[in-house]
Parts: sequence; C-alpha cells; structure tokens
Amino acid sequence: MSTSGASLALKRRGSPSHHSTSLPSVAGRCAIKPRGAGEFNLLAYMFCIRTMTIDDYEEVIALMKRTPGVTFRDADSRENTARYLLRNPGLSFIAISEGNVVGCIMSGHDGRRGYLQHLVVQLEHRRQGIANALVESCLSALEKLGIKKSHIDVLSENEAGISYWESQGWKLRTDIRRYSFVRSGGKNV
Ligand SMILES: CC(C)(COP(=O)(O)OP(=O)(O)OC[C@H]1O[C@@H](n2cnc3c(N)ncnc32)[C@H](O)[C@@H]1OP(=O)(O)O)[C@@H](O)C(=O)NCCC(=O)NCCS
Repeated sequence: MSTSGASLALKRRGSPSHHSTSLPSVAGRCAIKPRGAGEFNLLAYMFCIRTMTIDDYEEVIALMKRTPGVTFRDADSRENTARYLLRNPGLSFIAISEGNVVGCIMSGHDGRRGYLQHLVVQLEHRRQGIANALVESCLSALEKLGIKKSHIDVLSENEAGISYWESQGWKLRTDIRRYSFVRSGGKNV
C-alpha cells in the first residue's frame, strides 16, 4: 500500500496517451509529467499513485464532495465502500500530491467485464496526466486478472467527462440501453 518515491514513470508529452498495454503501470509509483515538449523537466508536476484502502475513505469522499458535477449517493457510504474494496482488492487507486489526495478511481469486475467509477481529479491538478495514470492503474490491474474489456457510465450532462473518455479512445455504446431498478431505499439510493 505504500508509495515508492524511487520508482519513477516518465511519459513524454506527445507520446500516445490512450490507455493501452504499452503504457507503464504507475500504481504504487510516482510519475513526473513533463511540462516542456519532448523534454523532461525535474521541476515538472509530480504525483504518486497508490492503491486505495478504506482508510482513505474520508479524503476520497471529501474530494468527491468538493468537485462540481460529482454525485454522492447512499451507495457511497463507508460501509458499502469497505465492502466494495474487499470484493475488489487492489483495483481502486488514489493520486497523491504533496501529501494530499488529489485524484481517485474505483474499479471492480464481475468475472467477465471490468467496471470503472468515481474517476475524479481535483480542479487545480487537472491536465497533468493524473486521470490517465489512475485509469491505466485500473486497466493494468484488471488485465492481470484476465479482464480485457471494461465499461464506464457517464452522465449525459457531464461534458468534461465525455470529452475525456472520448479523447482516450473509449467508444460510446449506442447499441445498448442501461436499465436500473430500485427495489428499496430513497431517491438517493
Ligand atoms: C475528467 C477528469 C477526470 C480528467 O482528469 P485530468 O487529470 O485532468 O485528465 P488527464 O490530465 O489525465 O488528461 C489526459 C488527456 O485527456 C484529455 N482530456 C482531459 N480532460 C479533458 C477535457 N475536459 N476535455 C477534453 N479532453 C480532456 C486530454 O487529451 C488530456 O491530455 P493533455 O492534457 O495532454 O491534452 C477531470 O476533468 C475531472 O475530475 N472531472 C470531474 C469529474 C468527472 O467528470 N469524472 C469523470 C466521471 S465519468
């Protein structure tokens, strides 16, 4: 669960940014995002990605709650999150910068397909490659479990989210409709 400052993953600006098996996994490592074209700059933005545990819950929820457009549901309770992490060990990640949680993502699988959710990067830390590092961490961990295809639900009104996923090569499914049913609970279940 610890981060390793000794392991650095570097990504040149302009290199392919789509989530693919060719990208290095940065889970449990630090990454430097170069600011200059084609050059690595030691003053560049730095962050670490590590596995999320239930001890990170409060900080992750605080990040979600202070991010406009991110919905907090009853399903995101501490109890449910603990159960989710227990059922999907090593598949959720946080990004840390200067000791603060500045990004998160959760993922799991049903034995066949992967499901990503709660990708959030703090406003001031965007466009530094954090989301890509988080997503890659999930996809890499899922692939090691034999999961080669994953899904993400994005609210239709979330234009930034839609732009992000489409920019990374994720394909909108127009051939399926997702139906949900609430058996018990309130409006925010
Ligand atoms: C969507 C979000 C997670 C992206 O986080 P991020 O850390 O800024 O993303 P990255 O820096 O890894 O972006 C990598 C690439 O994705 C693309 N991208 C990222 N955000 C984008 C946006 N808003 N519009 C279009 N393309 C975008 C760019 O190509 C970017 O590369 P570049 O910076 O070299 O141009 C962030 O904007 C966010 O937290 N939004 C609010 C929560 C949300 O909507 N989450 C998604 C829910 S499904």
